[in-house]
Amino acid sequence: MIKLTRRRVITSAVAGTLALGAGAIYWHGTGGGTIGPIIPARLKIPARLNGRNEQGVQVYDLTLQNGETEFIDGYQTRTNGINGSYLGPTLMMRNGSPVRIKVNNQLGEPSTLHWHGMHLPASQDGGPHQMINPNETWSPEFTIKQKAASLWYHSHLMGATGAQIWRGLAGMLIIEDEQTDGLNLPKTYGVDDLPLVLQDRWFTSNGQLDYELSMHSRMMGMSGNVPLANGILGAYFEATSSRLRLRILNGSNASTYNLAFDNGQSFHQIATDGGLLEAPVALSQLRLAPGERAEIVVDLEAGKNIVLQNQAEHLSSLMSGTESAPALDFLHIRPAAQLSQAPALPLQLTQMQWLNPADATKTRIFDLQMSMGMSAMMGTDSNSHTINGKAMDMQRIDEVVKLGDTEIWQLQNSSMMPHPFHMHDVQFQILDRDGSKPPANEQGRKDIVLVQPGEVVRIIMRFEDYADNAPFMYHCHILEHEDAGMMGQFVVVA
Ligand code: C2O
Ligand code: CU
Ligand code: CU
Repeated sequence: MIKLTRRRVITSAVAGTLALGAGAIYWHGTGGGTIGPIIPARLKIPARLNGRNEQGVQVYDLTLQNGETEFIDGYQTRTNGINGSYLGPTLMMRNGSPVRIKVNNQLGEPSTLHWHGMHLPASQDGGPHQMINPNETWSPEFTIKQKAASLWYHSHLMGATGAQIWRGLAGMLIIEDEQTDGLNLPKTYGVDDLPLVLQDRWFTSNGQLDYELSMHSRMMGMSGNVPLANGILGAYFEATSSRLRLRILNGSNASTYNLAFDNGQSFHQIATDGGLLEAPVALSQLRLAPGERAEIVVDLEAGKNIVLQNQAEHLSSLMSGTESAPALDFLHIRPAAQLSQAPALPLQLTQMQWLNPADATKTRIFDLQMSMGMSAMMGTDSNSHTINGKAMDMQRIDEVVKLGDTEIWQLQNSSMMPHPFHMHDVQFQILDRDGSKPPANEQGRKDIVLVQPGEVVRIIMRFEDYADNAPFMYHCHILEHEDAGMMGQFVVVA
């Protein structure tokens, strides 16, 4: 392990937030400087956790813990992780199987663990109501009842989700089923099938994670200038096969990424948040909002390196334009000189069961709102981030839904910035964006949809299986907005 003796501090007069050069890490703040060069490092593949069978139930042991992680050469950064120092293992689960997850909290502070995208009883969901106190173990139990998909899990502590995920409390969760078993897709974990958690972070001048709720970050969310892939800065992956499947999670607090390869080559998206698309969709750029997942398949050429990067000005502020974003290089892919040849992509992946708007018994309107006043920005206005004019209140149930019903939720955004809307319990389908069909790569099962300012997005869902009186959440997945109150609760009643 490289220790602080090798610390390199190159102080420069360049402001920390401006003129970011590729290859250097700038710390946050006025008068900033660099804290080191970016040194290439092998992509970490999170361990797979398959669970152990106890009387027919798959049991998983997770520990929320404090640790130190060396993101930047020579700096030990204080972090949080699950069964490790930063992020967590990939939980492997199968449709139809009963699971129990034992979550032990060794953080020294309360937390929760939420199974994002999972269809399950609300009492097992790991939202703000299922708090795990220090030294306690919470053991939710449920049966997987949904198709193969790349989901994730993360802290959902009321008012502190942003801070806890920033420090590393998140991981991926893969559901498999007979359909994906039978499809000719890359599926060798860590070889041609990679989980990829993309995040950006700020660091302080002494190499610690910088999380500050300022006027600016409450409004814009916390975004940083240091790109991480599975917690690795400057990540590279040595590919051995001609086709790579990337299960990409935008695990950032607030950044919408526009992902593309540096050589402009196209790729195929094969799955959305909730699983396979009907057919692969060819793309050259993929927009992924915080919390969203996409599985993509990319063709490689022997010996030709490519870089997966964020290409847009996602950090630039709509209102002030104060931050100019670097292109974030997330992952360098280095194909070997000889690649094993992968079979052609299947033309059809699955068949969607489209929900019919005529079956909807109800349309509910959700208006995402932010107030821009001084008190809102100072954080002294408890009503600055709202849905339908109301800030989150754990004691208030906002919507009551009847089990078995199909509903349309009409999402509106009357604020000045985009909000990724997320709901718990069920996957939905996007009916339309401002009256027109969504793009092909959004025509699948979703649990997050980005709503632009002024836009109206209609989604449709059916509430099945679970009505246990505990509340489910819906909220903006910009974590600072969620923490500031842009969240509500619904219950499903039989
Ligand atoms: Cu990703 Cu309410 O959660
Ligand atoms: Cu969720
Ligand atoms: Cu938001």
